[in-house]
Amino acid sequence: MADITESPEWTALAEHQAAIAGRHLRELFAEDPGRAERMTVTAGDLFLDYSKHRVTGETLTLLAALAERAGLRARIEAMFGGEHINVSEDRAVLHTALRLPPGEALTVDGQDVAADVHAVLDKMADFAGRVRSGEWTGSTGKRITTVVNIGIGGSDLGPAMAYEALHDFADAGVSCRFVSNIDPADILGKLAGLDPEQTLFVVSSKTFGTLETLTNAKVARGWLTERLGDDAVSRHFVAVSTNAERVADFGIDTANMFGFWDWVGGRYSFDGAIGLSLMIAIGGEAFREMLAGFREVDEHFRSAPFEANMPVLMGLLGVWYTDFFGAQTRAVLPYSQRLSRFPAYLQQLTMESNGKSVRADGAPVIAQTGAIFWGEPGTNGQHAFYQLLHQGTRLVPADFIGFAEPFEDREGMHDLLTANMLAQTSALAFGKTAEEIAADGTPAAVVPHKVMPGNRPSSTILAPKLTPKTLGSLVALYEHIVFVEGTVWGIDSFDQWGVELGKVMAMDLAPALTSQEPPSEAPDPSTGALVRRYRELRGR
Ligand code: F6P
Repeated sequence: MADITESPEWTALAEHQAAIAGRHLRELFAEDPGRAERMTVTAGDLFLDYSKHRVTGETLTLLAALAERAGLRARIEAMFGGEHINVSEDRAVLHTALRLPPGEALTVDGQDVAADVHAVLDKMADFAGRVRSGEWTGSTGKRITTVVNIGIGGSDLGPAMAYEALHDFADAGVSCRFVSNIDPADILGKLAGLDPEQTLFVVSSKTFGTLETLTNAKVARGWLTERLGDDAVSRHFVAVSTNAERVADFGIDTANMFGFWDWVGGRYSFDGAIGLSLMIAIGGEAFREMLAGFREVDEHFRSAPFEANMPVLMGLLGVWYTDFFGAQTRAVLPYSQRLSRFPAYLQQLTMESNGKSVRADGAPVIAQTGAIFWGEPGTNGQHAFYQLLHQGTRLVPADFIGFAEPFEDREGMHDLLTANMLAQTSALAFGKTAEEIAADGTPAAVVPHKVMPGNRPSSTILAPKLTPKTLGSLVALYEHIVFVEGTVWGIDSFDQWGVELGKVMAMDLAPALTSQEPPSEAPDPSTGALVRRYRELRGR
């Protein structure tokens, strides 16, 4: 497989970058004011303005040619069709099947995927409905008022982010808490104040072998049985997993298990059974609206031409800055408090997917791959790290995400929030020159400190309102951006071998921390010394 960096399309982009790098967005807009209208695209309810990027029409043509060279069209069909594009695990990648519309067929590897997906969704909706109505009660007959999801990574970040995002739609008096960390402070803090009679634990783990989740689940079971006895477990614990045997071994009735499949990656899973806690909170109907939002962007991704395809454009812009401008990070700045967990969710989605340094065929990559994703909701970020975005020495492309309608408003606050978002994108792009600052009467010595260089690129995504449907579309957008980037880089975006070694080493090290025996061999001198120091501090 020839490396993409050796293609004529890559060379053409490198040459084009050299020509365009010195051009300021001020010039690009002065020459072509129509770009503000033209460089926009809609996908379902999402509207994207990408005019504040350091691109011209030629850049976009060259990027589209790169996508063609990478075989993006065929790869999209391969994913939707269930080919085993996760090569290192020899698996299909079918999170898009989780939102198949009723009636649409899909059979993969001899399995009726569509039927399986709808059977699980129906089972979830039935269970969620019973919890919400009070028909499903705890062991003492009281209704459930709190659901505690125990999971980590994809089995936590998706539902936790979405629950926070859609909190306003939680209409049945059931609230959710999310426990993930193996730090005891997490579970103990989340159990505090809960009434065991009214608490339901959803143990979410694709493998049902994850240390953090199983340990937290044991603590939760102990907490419950101490108060309500062993027989209470079946009314207060359900599981979401692909592994029925381990669920049964843990002591959860597999009749109360909600399944999924190895073709759903953990970080792509909250629109299936991993979203059970969310579905209990917002209801089956709102959950299905969310799936419809995912589906709209799936269909757009599959059918829109590259030049009008939102995930393709955003993915190619990611490649443009990462590989041709040397940008290392990407800021995600939701102007919505409800999306406060969105950057954390995206960190797993993007970085576990595209943080790779070998290609799918095992050869080392030559290009730079996955950017570091980070962010905070606006306007909090403005009073923290935006200084660096505006005047620092690094180029940080940013995604701004805003909504026209708030769920609730006071004192015109929502307009102020939006004004801040738009002002930031403008200041980043156009800045303020020394002449303009001097003209304001600023003393000459201070002028350089106040210069706002501008030329800092951003995307602005604007949607009517944060609803289940919009959230689904937003998540599908980023899932496909990851796919586009991974395709150009030629990597397997669906495995995560890099997290395995540390897990194994932690299990090897754990006995050395707790033992009363002289410390045994550590993996390296530094870690050995730290083990000794830890044991001294713990008096062992
Ligand atoms: O951190 C690695 C990982 O395998 C993630 O990909 C996954 O989302 C998480 O652990 C949790 O895994 P599981 O759902 O199997 O408990």
